[in-house]
Amino acid sequence: MSAVQPAPALDPDKLNAFVFRAVEEVGATLNAALVVMGDKLGLYRAMAGAGPLDPGELAAATDVAERYAREWLNNQAAGGYVEYDPGSGRYTLPPEQAVAMTDADSPAYLPGVFQIALGAVSDSPRITEAARSGAGVGWHEHSHDVFEGCERFFRPGYHASLVTAWLPALDGVVGKLEAGGAVADIGCGHGASTILMAQSFPTATFTGSDYHAGSIETARDRAREAGVGDRVDFRATTATDHPGSGYDLITMFDCLHDMGDPVGAARHVREIVAPDGTWMIVEPAAGDRVEDNLNPVGRAYYGFSTLLCTPASLSQEVGLALGAQAGEARIRDVVEAGGFTRFRRVAETPFNHVYEARP
Ligand SMILES: C[S@@+](CC[C@H](N)C(=O)[O-])C[C@H]1O[C@@H](n2cnc3c(N)ncnc32)[C@H](O)[C@@H]1O
Repeated sequence: MSAVQPAPALDPDKLNAFVFRAVEEVGATLNAALVVMGDKLGLYRAMAGAGPLDPGELAAATDVAERYAREWLNNQAAGGYVEYDPGSGRYTLPPEQAVAMTDADSPAYLPGVFQIALGAVSDSPRITEAARSGAGVGWHEHSHDVFEGCERFFRPGYHASLVTAWLPALDGVVGKLEAGGAVADIGCGHGASTILMAQSFPTATFTGSDYHAGSIETARDRAREAGVGDRVDFRATTATDHPGSGYDLITMFDCLHDMGDPVGAARHVREIVAPDGTWMIVEPAAGDRVEDNLNPVGRAYYGFSTLLCTPASLSQEVGLALGAQAGEARIRDVVEAGGFTRFRRVAETPFNHVYEARP
């Protein structure tokens, strides 16, 4: 065997195509910061429904320096987020983009996912270090953009589907909640899901929990602001210590795979759910095999999984590290190991799978 391998013949067209694709991705990477900037400065909100604006008009409407407004607009025009009319020198936010960039109740709302992506990228030096040793980085160790971006990313999907599609897909659950059932929402973060359910079922009682005390404080504020503060009891505690028993419904939204000991959490849920109760598990949409997830949604989730979910699980006891693309078969294994005998997928969106587990 020769020690020196001949250099492979390079296809210059393939190399050029790859470099130009990467240039597009550099623009997309920077766009995360520019979208969050536009969201925080109110630039999209000022443009929504306002018709064509020049940089000076946008700057005046938002109290932003005109030179920054102009450069931001040019970047957004190059990316197709706004439209530019060279004749008038004005920029327009088309109505579809206005919904996606400003309507927080629309399932198409985008600022939240950019905010969590930017937070995850900003925190990535910690993850690079952790990858050398295999150590974890806890969810609570991240920056505010991760917590708030997570809430703003997921809430529109819950607003669109939770009460109208996901809960009705569960066997007999809506009737129990209308009759004043007891609900536990575990790993609730800022409580968006808990509050939406509390608003829809005024006679039911709700206990939300999350191990991150800062998120629970925010959840309490959000519940007060939404007028359901007296019916939602938020606790800062781990999934394996969620208090109470006899729950008609226990929910976990996009958090089972973040836990270090999801099987331990499943066993605890089995102990505190009513004998004929239901555990609803919402997880990122994923196929069982890597090759099923090599698509744009899977790419984004594997990115979040590398920077947020996998380190979060590794930071806790057991450190099972399911990852955000675990897939249905792996989730079923966890649920059955926790003592549940029935498991089925009841709903799905492009971003989430919804599972029902019963004792
Ligand atoms: C991706 S966030 C989802 C938050 C919320 N359910 C939502 O849908 O917006 C994952 C959440 O799981 C929480 N978490 C992680 N490990 C946990 C554990 N062992 N016990 C309770 N909560 C945990 C994190 O603090 C974080 O709030």
